[in-house]
Amino acid sequence: MIDAVGEGVDSSRIGQDVLAMTRFGGYSSAVCAPAGAVVPRPAGMSAQIGAAIPVNYLTAWMMLRVMGRVEAGDRVMIHSAAGGVGLASIDLCRAAGAEMWGSASPGKHAFIQERGVQHPLDSRADQWPDQKVDLILDAIGGASWGRGLDQLRAGGRLVCFGLSSGSSGDRPSKWAQLQAAMAIPWLRTTPVALINNNQGVLGVNMGHLWDEGDRVTAWLATLLTWWEDGRIKPHVHAAVPFAEAAEAHRILHRRENIGKVVLVP
Ligand SMILES: NC(=O)c1ccc[n+]([C@@H]2O[C@H](COP(=O)([O-])OP(=O)(O)OC[C@H]3O[C@@H](n4cnc5c(N)ncnc54)[C@H](OP(=O)(O)O)[C@@H]3O)[C@@H](O)[C@H]2O)c1
Repeated sequence: MIDAVGEGVDSSRIGQDVLAMTRFGGYSSAVCAPAGAVVPRPAGMSAQIGAAIPVNYLTAWMMLRVMGRVEAGDRVMIHSAAGGVGLASIDLCRAAGAEMWGSASPGKHAFIQERGVQHPLDSRADQWPDQKVDLILDAIGGASWGRGLDQLRAGGRLVCFGLSSGSSGDRPSKWAQLQAAMAIPWLRTTPVALINNNQGVLGVNMGHLWDEGDRVTAWLATLLTWWEDGRIKPHVHAAVPFAEAAEAHRILHRRENIGKVVLVP
């Protein structure tokens, strides 16, 4: 809810329930955001569902609609399909009429199938589709990107947006990060190789889109209309009090969550 506005901003907005992307510092009882980046939360949407939308769905929107240009009938492989970004990607692929392969731990397969994934794959067993695909969304990184290049059909696009393979064990590990970095197929993604293979490699980092605020806000406004007509279904796995924020991180770390883990006051 807006509790104060800056100079020149319409003061009648005070008291309005809203959504906004924050650059950093989102773990806070009060945040300051540019007025243009703040959109009204639709009537009937809870604060928790609202919190599950911006990062997850805007990342999926950038990958699938702005850059990946998913179309009806496209074959899409979604890594980490049961995570926050994964479920958002499933919603956008289902809306486009794409065929989906989704990798997740086996206990999450029933959920992603119910959301529309036709071909669940076991992420713990490193399973891949039995045919080549048009689009791959991959935040695992490292060797997975090389494997993904082998899996693309002509015209296919690999979207790189994270490096989960650099995280292992209970603590941040420079060694795991180094291993993941060394496994990146640096030499396979040259312009000449992409020409010869009819492939594209795309990268997405929402944290570097702050100069495109108007575009991003317009995507968010569209996504909220999609929520109103039932095309997207944000899912909250757990709402954890601020005082137990460490437990919220443990849920993520143990790879237990299906969808978003939100912090609540
Ligand atoms: N570039 C961007 O702008 C951007 C924006 C948002 C998120 N991201 C990145 O996208 C990834 C997914 O984000 P999210 O919010 O959807 O995360 P999330 O909800 O926590 O889901 C992550 C899932 O990834 C799977 N996974 C596979 N290998 C993993 C590993 N080594 N460590 C941890 N998890 C692993 C796990 O699912 P299974 O056990 O089911 O396989 C895990 O539950 C993260 O790497 C995040 O940093 C990037």
